[in-house]
This record gives sequence, structure tokens and C-alpha cells, in this order.
Amino acid sequence: MSPGKPTILVTGGAGYIGSHTVLALKQAGYNVVILDNLVYGHRDLVERVLQVELIVGDTGDRALLDHLFKTHDIAAVMHFSAYAYVGESVTDPAKYYRNNVLGTFTLLEAMLTASVKKFVFSSTCATYGVPEFIPIPETHPQNPINPYGATKLMVERILADFDVAYGLQSVCFRYFNAAGANPSGLLGEDHNPETHLIPLVLMTALGKRESISIFGTDYPTPDGTCIRDYIHVNDLADAHILGLEYLLKGSDSEVFNLGNGSGFSVREVIAAAEQVTGLSIPVDERDRRPGDPPILIGTSEKARTILRWQPQYPFIKDIVAHAWQWHQQRHK
Ligand SMILES: NC(=O)c1ccc[n+]([C@@H]2O[C@H](COP(=O)([O-])OP(=O)(O)OC[C@H]3O[C@@H](n4cnc5c(N)ncnc54)[C@H](O)[C@@H]3O)[C@@H](O)[C@H]2O)c1
Repeated sequence: MSPGKPTILVTGGAGYIGSHTVLALKQAGYNVVILDNLVYGHRDLVERVLQVELIVGDTGDRALLDHLFKTHDIAAVMHFSAYAYVGESVTDPAKYYRNNVLGTFTLLEAMLTASVKKFVFSSTCATYGVPEFIPIPETHPQNPINPYGATKLMVERILADFDVAYGLQSVCFRYFNAAGANPSGLLGEDHNPETHLIPLVLMTALGKRESISIFGTDYPTPDGTCIRDYIHVNDLADAHILGLEYLLKGSDSEVFNLGNGSGFSVREVIAAAEQVTGLSIPVDERDRRPGDPPILIGTSEKARTILRWQPQYPFIKDIVAHAWQWHQQRHK
């Protein structure tokens, strides 16, 4: 326990982005309590690497939340927990509205009862839907095209209303594509099932998959494949500390994009992985998937200006190299 700094509750702290942020919080001297139901989280990483208190439970469990807030002096909540499989959100939207909206709503009500009024929220570029222009600023219209994006937008709206009515101050971070791993090699991305491009490419390099599928090679982009904005998970973690400190000093609620500001195509990511691993990665070219915009790139100037956020790892080679280090030891 650090005597100087307050205690932060991190929901989903046993997951990918949450665990990296917990490590950054610890390194910045904060006390951390994780609430995670371990549906997708990793107990071993919390116990072995993070070494903070883990409460195994669900954000929808009001009695557990009330007890948690009574027994811990929580200054702010960082809310990572959610379901985040876009395809599943289309086939089973109830699961997403229940967890991402109702679970968050239950957490927010418990916070108000406990007079905890600082909230950092993991939102997403999926709230924008198909971009009308690139790069996407925070003021771009929000028209999500799947239930996952809709659940995140609903929470953003709840937060705006709760600020006006109850003084609950929040920072909403709309992430683009989180990627990479802690450069220490101790933490990394371990989704099951995995749907993100970089881990899938690296698992192909490791021989865990036969090939990597490229969905669409005739997009209006320089090499015909989709371009996405990849942001290093450590840079996301740093932004969360800055967002937290912005709230703790009493600043008003804000919404920030978190992205690299430059995009990489699917082929560029595969080429970077071949360079980093020294291995040839077999590809399987397929038709376009419905709902995939050709280019998704955000501008994060607002976070750079207001929070003074400065991403440390903007290059795809670093992002892939850190992920490779993690995957090699995770799958050995
Ligand atoms: N990974 C990305 O590229 C990305 C992009 C945009 C937004 N996000 C958002 O960031 C957040 C974290 O994403 P991630 O990639 O780290 O996901 P993750 O699945 O690795 O982590 C989420 C964690 O939350 C836990 N959880 C889920 N529902 C819970 C509940 N009701 N109660 C308690 N714990 C619960 C899971 O067990 C898991 O440990 C999510 O809210 C996601 O929507 C992620």
C-alpha cells in the first residue's frame, strides 16, 4: 500500500488493457483494487505480475458493489469491464446490453450511493460507425453500426446526464485499435477467442494457425487492404493515468479519442510481423466482410493538448515487436 495516493477501483483489471493500466497505476504509486468476474480475465497475471487485491465478482452485482465501496476508500473508478466481440453483439445483443449497459448502470448507481464521483470509461471508435471523413475527431457524428458500439454510446449518454444531474465527472476514452504488449514482456494480449489482427498474425507466425485471412484486397487504399489506427497498450495506460489525474484535480467531464493518428494496412502489419519475427507468414485472401470501412483513423490532438498525452510507441514495428515478445513466452 502506498500511503500518499488514493485507491482506484479498476473493473476488468484482469483483462488486456485493464491489466496494463493497473501496472501503470501501481508504478505511479496508486493503490489498486480490481473487480473482475474472470469471464475473460486472467487470475494468474493478477497474482503473479500485478499483485494487487482482486475481487472476483460482477459489475451487475449491486450487493457486492455496495460492500466493496463500504470496505474500501475508493477515490475513482476506471471501468474497463465489458464484452467486446462485435460479431457476437450482433447475434446476441441481449448479452451486450445486459453487461455493457446494465452492468455499468448498476456500477454507476452504487458509486453515487457511495459518493464516489470520478469515472474513467473505456469507450470506442465503434461509436462513430462508418466515418464520414478521416481523421475522425471527437466531434464526428456517432452512428454505431452494431450493438457493441451502441452499448458504449449509451453509456456515454448516461455519463453526460449523470454529470449534469448528480455531478458525476467522467473521462470517456474512445480507443482505436489497442495493440502491443508491455515492453517488460510480463503482460500482453490474451483474448480467447482472439479476433484482433496482430495477435492472429503472430499466432500464425508461431504455427498455431495455418494462415492469416485478409478480408478484402480491393479497397480504395494504396495496397487494397483495410487501414486501421493501432495504438500501443502502454500508451493507452499512460493516457488513463493522465485522465484520472485530470479528474482528481476537479476538471470537467471530457471525451477523448486515443489513437495513433496514422494508420497501417493489413498488409503493412503482416510485413512488420515478418520483419520482426524473421518468418514468412502465409496469407489467405478472402472477400470483404460487410461493415468494414476501408479506413479508420482518429485524431487524438485533444488528448495531446488537454492531457499533454504523448504516445511513446507510435511505430508499428515497436507495437509488433512487443507483442511478439509476449506471444513467444505465452505460447512456449
Ligand atoms: N481491445 C481493443 O482494441 C478495444 C478497443 C476499443 C475499446 N475497448 C474497450 O476496452 C475495454 C477493455 O478491453 P480489453 O481488450 O482489455 O478486453 P478484455 O476482455 O481483455 O478485458 C475485459 C475484462 O472485463 C472482465 N469483465 C467483463 N464483464 C465483466 C463484468 N460484468 N464484471 C466484472 N468483470 C467483467 C473480463 O473478465 C475481462 O477481464 C472494454 O470495455 C472494451 O470494450 C477495447
